[in-house]
Amino acid sequence: MRMYDILAKKRDGGTLAAEEIAFVIAGYTSGEIPDYQMAAFLMAVFLRGMDKAETAVLTDCMARSGDVVDLSAIAGVKVDKHSTGGVGDKTTLVVAPLAAACGVKVAKMSGRGLGHTGGTVDKMEAIPHMRTTLSGEEFIRQVNEIGLAVIGQSGNLAPADKKMYALRDVTATVNSIPLIASSIMSKKLAAGSDAILLDVKTGSGAFMKTLEDSIALAAAMVDIGEANGRRTAALITSMDAPLGHAIGNSLEVAEAVATLQGRGPADLTEVCLELCAGMLALAGQGTHDDCRAKAEGAIADGSGFARLRQMVAAQGGDASVIDDASRFAPAVARAEVAAPVAGYITGMDTEGIGTAAMLLGAGRATKEDEIDYAAGMVLHAKTGAYVQAGAPLATLYAADEKRLGAGREKLLQSISFGEKVPALAPLVLARVDKDGVRQY
Ligand code: URA
Repeated sequence: MRMYDILAKKRDGGTLAAEEIAFVIAGYTSGEIPDYQMAAFLMAVFLRGMDKAETAVLTDCMARSGDVVDLSAIAGVKVDKHSTGGVGDKTTLVVAPLAAACGVKVAKMSGRGLGHTGGTVDKMEAIPHMRTTLSGEEFIRQVNEIGLAVIGQSGNLAPADKKMYALRDVTATVNSIPLIASSIMSKKLAAGSDAILLDVKTGSGAFMKTLEDSIALAAAMVDIGEANGRRTAALITSMDAPLGHAIGNSLEVAEAVATLQGRGPADLTEVCLELCAGMLALAGQGTHDDCRAKAEGAIADGSGFARLRQMVAAQGGDASVIDDASRFAPAVARAEVAAPVAGYITGMDTEGIGTAAMLLGAGRATKEDEIDYAAGMVLHAKTGAYVQAGAPLATLYAADEKRLGAGREKLLQSISFGEKVPALAPLVLARVDKDGVRQY
């Protein structure tokens, strides 16, 4: 088999055989296929696409390019959850303990934030002494004992994806549905769970800006999961405004705790209940309504909160900050931002607000940047609210006045005001599973 012939076949719109895709991924992972040929392959896929069968094989080969986590020593159904990334998205910290309290096993690997989006591992590391690296044995033991563990992604999970993503980044081939879907799902397949619930964000703060594109990505990922023997479903949820009020690592942990205690913002609580219901349904725990009722019960009786506390303690974290968020180290500087005019908030450029949080110190512009765990903002008003001129819009937290100024300017640029009440889209816009797409 020659890479040259495979490139010519895809360039001309052909359908690749499983052995040809396996040859490409094995050769690129081992270094036998050079970057220039792989770059041509990625561009051919970008321009010509891949059908469902090709995409499923590509993902399987990428998943098997490195370590594949074996979760068979964990009793019960293991359900994973993945978000395509957003601003103020602390759902994993709520949903994983809730689902565990309802009887599913959550053995989860999460990522770090980059650019305007946050990452669960960074939020967990805001908790003093919290470990986000566990040995394989510790990981399995913890999930068997308390039903959940959330850690960072291990070094050798889907190495083909790591190399391919870096190449896509510099060859203008990131934005392709088969390449994005295979990239995300290769890591999910390698992480070993029986079922996968995807939270595909859509809107101004999401990777996919339109509902149509978000549904297409969700459908591609559901097809990949099902073709590879994993029960898979996706919710399309809104990222047209930040989720909840808090953006920034320790602020988001505190808001996740409040949500588990039944004191969370309505939008965050709603999305978390729907995601948890989706995970329980994939685990075979009943109808959507039964599963939703179980998730609500785990908030009402405190069992979800108790699981988060247990996980923090089991991973060495200081659980006193979970009991009392005022024990988090405070930011050095804070400032109030007031509404510049009276009117309705008619829109939020959520990506811009995520960038404002990054400028405050809550995120990274490059992988090497250090995070200030206390930095970020709490929004006091979101899209649809009426504000008087001078009314509080947000409280900002940062290490110094310069960062506060940069964050304030970017935040104000990202909020639009008007005289008419804006139409608000639903928080959950669609559901995608093996039976098709339902739009709300
Ligand atoms: N996230 C991933 O892991 N891969 C992509 O291609 C895009 C987003």
